Amino acid sequence: MTSSPGERVLVTRPLERAWLEPLHAAGLTVDVVSADEIGDSAALRSRAAGAAALLVVLGDRVDAALLDAAGSGLRVVATISVGVDHIDLEACRARGVRVANTPDVLTDATADLAMTLLLALTRRVREGEALVRCGGWQGWEPGQLLGRDIKGARVLVVGAGRIGGAFAQRVHAFGARVAYHGRSPRPALEDALGACYEPDLDTALGRADVVSLHAPLTPETRHLLDARRLALLPPRAIVINTGRGPLIDEHALVAALRSGALWGAGLDVYEHEPRIHPGLAELPNVVLLPHLGSATEDTRAAMAKLATDAIVSTLRGEHSGDPGDG
Ligand code: DGY
Repeated sequence: MTSSPGERVLVTRPLERAWLEPLHAAGLTVDVVSADEIGDSAALRSRAAGAAALLVVLGDRVDAALLDAAGSGLRVVATISVGVDHIDLEACRARGVRVANTPDVLTDATADLAMTLLLALTRRVREGEALVRCGGWQGWEPGQLLGRDIKGARVLVVGAGRIGGAFAQRVHAFGARVAYHGRSPRPALEDALGACYEPDLDTALGRADVVSLHAPLTPETRHLLDARRLALLPPRAIVINTGRGPLIDEHALVAALRSGALWGAGLDVYEHEPRIHPGLAELPNVVLLPHLGSATEDTRAAMAKLATDAIVSTLRGEHSGDPGDG
């Protein structure tokens, strides 16, 4: 089956031409929002009217108002992200709109970035680099910028899905002792890595030198690490977050970092992106990245391919799954 000629796809960000090629090849009309419309929800609603598909990113709120503005011809929302917390899945389901995301292809890139944050933090890369660049380095010193070993550290992976599992493999290869918390045990992680399943998060936090967050953002996981849970971590613990910012109460995190209760934090995601909590950027014991988890050339191209293929197959009527199943 072919898609009806000229069916319109609204793309909410300027994207590389090659990434949009599957849409052009399918004969779809590709309508890309202009730079000054980005993040303007009223403009997005008006541009969405009559679209058969929306190609969105995680900075877009796909809510009932946007779906209604698009109208009854809308059949698929494809997001260039694995996370779907910016999309009202129930509203899509109710309107028979398929939601497609981009799992698998970003697993390694995101796990690599979590590892990057952990290494940068534990080996004080940011401070060392700044010292060399500013010309302040006076030569090798026995006690200079001493960091922490990953070997032997007790690393707790919260949310041991694809990305959490890949991060667990990486820290295991560095000699860490891996524990994981999630809804259910993952025997494969236990067999391959000797990882220990921790069904009770509070108990697990009390035993962790490093906690790395990989859970999806849902109403249940919002502020999973709040002030109470941060206080359960042993002194000198490290927090890594490449999942979603609101998994942590950022205000409580800043307080814990300031007081020295935590050794440090490596963050790629923030509670109110792109804003970060006042005081966070001034802290010496943090490494802060601008949501780069999946940001490699190959990964982003693969994500775009999955999302555009999902649009084409849905508009051709080839997708057999239930609407909203991703
Ligand atoms: C995702 O895919 O959800 C990531 O956060 C984007 O890199």
